[in-house]
Amino acid sequence: MSEANFKIDEVPLPAPADGQVLVKNLWLSLDPYMRGRMNEGKSYAARQELGEVMIGGTVGEVVESKHPKFAKGDQVLGMLGWQQYGLSDGKGLNKVDASRVPLSAYLGVLGMPGVTAWVGLLDICQPKAGETVLVSAASGAVGSVVGQIAKIKGCRAVGIAGGKAKCDYVAKELGFDACVDYKAGKLNDDLKAAAPNGVDCYFENVGGEILDAALRRMNAFSRIAVCGLISQYNATEPYGVKNFQSILTNRIKVQGFIVSDRMELWPKALAELAGWVVAGKIKYRETVTEGLDNAPKAFIGLLKGENFGKQLVRLA
Ligand SMILES: NC(=O)c1ccc[n+]([C@@H]2O[C@H](COP(=O)([O-])OP(=O)(O)OC[C@H]3O[C@@H](n4cnc5c(N)ncnc54)[C@H](OP(=O)(O)O)[C@@H]3O)[C@@H](O)[C@H]2O)c1
Repeated sequence: MSEANFKIDEVPLPAPADGQVLVKNLWLSLDPYMRGRMNEGKSYAARQELGEVMIGGTVGEVVESKHPKFAKGDQVLGMLGWQQYGLSDGKGLNKVDASRVPLSAYLGVLGMPGVTAWVGLLDICQPKAGETVLVSAASGAVGSVVGQIAKIKGCRAVGIAGGKAKCDYVAKELGFDACVDYKAGKLNDDLKAAAPNGVDCYFENVGGEILDAALRRMNAFSRIAVCGLISQYNATEPYGVKNFQSILTNRIKVQGFIVSDRMELWPKALAELAGWVVAGKIKYRETVTEGLDNAPKAFIGLLKGENFGKQLVRLA
């Protein structure tokens, strides 16, 4: 994938018809799932059509409304895509309150990534106090929240991240018990030292060699929530997992999940996350790219780990 796969178009500003609102997008979320939408073939969601506006979560402000539920000035979260303004019929558009948290948080810790962490850890892995929770891409939008919830639940939280700066942030600022730098070249030894009692819950964001290393550390009757496999999204050949046998010998329960399948859990997850964020129990970090023109470069960088925390684009 390259920046040549993207094209910026200028079009006249649309006027809302009856039942529609025009939203000025202030923030755009860049997320790994967008890469999957760019592939042909069967997937859990419709693919991104060529020539259409790229899919994407946005927060912004209503500038004109002909919809009974929205007024000019309302701040809204929606899926209005990679564009500066979006028209909406109100479906999937929700008002948000930016009085206690910044608007951008609704795309990260108090949005889809935060809920993903909550669902994968609490609904699928179901860790008990005292257990060890391991999470890959630990400094990222999802992973950072996973480890902090694990700490709130009384678990040992161990992260895996790329580079010293990310690992220092995970351990020293986010309060994980340990973080392993997978780029340091001794992943198996470092994981053993960081999780001396083995791993009870592994929250998988990355796949590839990191999954193999995690499989070596899993305990009997442990759980793996397969959330993402980002190392594979741009790979030409899929990685062949070597330590699959661990699933049998350790009787591991492995479950993939897509957060949008669990809409019934979102209100509870968001309420808990908001409480933790406001209480300072969950911290987060953002990488902000300026302007839509720079979104393709930032998106390609996200898939290579160039982001540090939630990757956003400031549109205005
Ligand atoms: N199932 C769902 O419903 C759902 C919902 C949201 C997200 N997800 C998945 O959750 C994962 C994290 O998403 P996010 O939004 O929180 O992104 P993120 O962690 O903020 O950013 C992606 C991170 O992945 C790591 N990474 C990239 N390429 C890698 C590679 N080859 N090997 C190892 N690590 C690599 C990088 O961190 P390092 O520098 O530390 O390597 C990068 O910063 C993704 O796999 C995504 O697809 C799933």
